[in-house]
Amino acid sequence: MSKLTTLKLQHFRNIDQACLEFSDGLNLIVGDNAAGKTAIIEALWTLASGRSFRTAKPQQLIQFEHPELVIFCQLIEQQQTLNLGLSRHADQVTLKCNGETLKTQAEMSAHLPLQLLTPESHRLLEEGPKARRQFMDWGCFHQFKAFLPAWRQYQRVLKQRNHALKKQLPDQQIQLWDEPLIEAAGKIDEMRSDYIEQLTPFVKEFCQALMPELKATLSCQYLAGWPKTINAKAVDGFTDVIQQQFAKDRLNGHTQYGSHRADIKFKFGGQEAMLTLSRGQQKLFVCALLLAQACLYQNTSHHSVIMLIDDLPAELDAHHRTTLLKLLDALDIQHILTSTAENLIPILNPEKTRVWQIEKGSIHQTMPTRPG
Ligand SMILES: Nc1ncnc2c1ncn2[C@@H]1O[C@H](COP(=O)(O)OP(=O)(O)OP(=O)(O)O)[C@@H](O)[C@H]1O
Ligand SMILES: [Mg+2]
Repeated sequence: MSKLTTLKLQHFRNIDQACLEFSDGLNLIVGDNAAGKTAIIEALWTLASGRSFRTAKPQQLIQFEHPELVIFCQLIEQQQTLNLGLSRHADQVTLKCNGETLKTQAEMSAHLPLQLLTPESHRLLEEGPKARRQFMDWGCFHQFKAFLPAWRQYQRVLKQRNHALKKQLPDQQIQLWDEPLIEAAGKIDEMRSDYIEQLTPFVKEFCQALMPELKATLSCQYLAGWPKTINAKAVDGFTDVIQQQFAKDRLNGHTQYGSHRADIKFKFGGQEAMLTLSRGQQKLFVCALLLAQACLYQNTSHHSVIMLIDDLPAELDAHHRTTLLKLLDALDIQHILTSTAENLIPILNPEKTRVWQIEKGSIHQTMPTRPG
């Protein structure tokens, strides 16, 4: 089981210095608007994923008038202590694990299986397929060792093929990339499809726990990123699609179909989730998806995820907040929550709870005020 024990920040957003010693259960950060609550969640997410969920410009994370930010955390993983750190100075990022420099973000991410729920999380259903691909790829990355190399290979080859298409190089020089593209797509497809198949029963279980009122049957349909027919003619897998699409890809100057277009369709009783669920139910459905991932991850890796939830009261009503917190407690998932008021968060297990107050970037631990 992985548990975060400490987070230290220096010059991150409006937080000059902070040190938080976490509990294994509920960690609640309370403060007014603009106090720096989201900044704490954002710092952890930045360490685990290499990017913020709020900005594509990482320099914005560095506190004004300071040259550098530091994010450090300590983690217990299989009874071993890991010290993970990130420092950013303008465009330069250094990642360290137990004092040694890491070459890739993926090495860091593998140690920090974080999941994130924010008031924007329902975008997973609302927006284009990118967020859904990221969702399933999070699971594939943590479950299959072969996923990252296949994904990297696919991205590299796709870039080369698109470059050749854009430059209108001779057919041969474009088709040189077809075989490696098809090979990497085949591997990715197999892992994604396997993952969604394994995940679906867990999603059903957590939908039932969070929304027992929903009677319609849920289906999670994985879409590989290429069609089953082109111009009403059946195609035989991705190899056939690439061949049949060649003239069109040439004309468009890019590869139309492939793993970069994969998606998942969530349906209740045959209707798209987005069309049948209320806004609140959409948020609960995203919670069910994350809990399902957490549970599957726990079953397959014997580690556990750490759940970050920014502004929980904005996400869910009182009854569903309690249901979610009970599920997190029962699954032994460490969780870090933010809220504008402490009394909006039920404290189910005072011995496994820590509370902090944050004010203008300055944070201090307080006693939970309402046990039970
Ligand atoms: N690079 C930076 N340096 C200093 N301060 C910053 C920087 N970037 C953002 N801020 C400030 O940090 C503060 C913290 O914002 P944050 O979004 O974390 O607050 P919050 O507690 O989550 O508020 P809310 O309840 O409104 O969501 C804001 O006042 C913002 O203006
Ligand atoms: Mg916030």
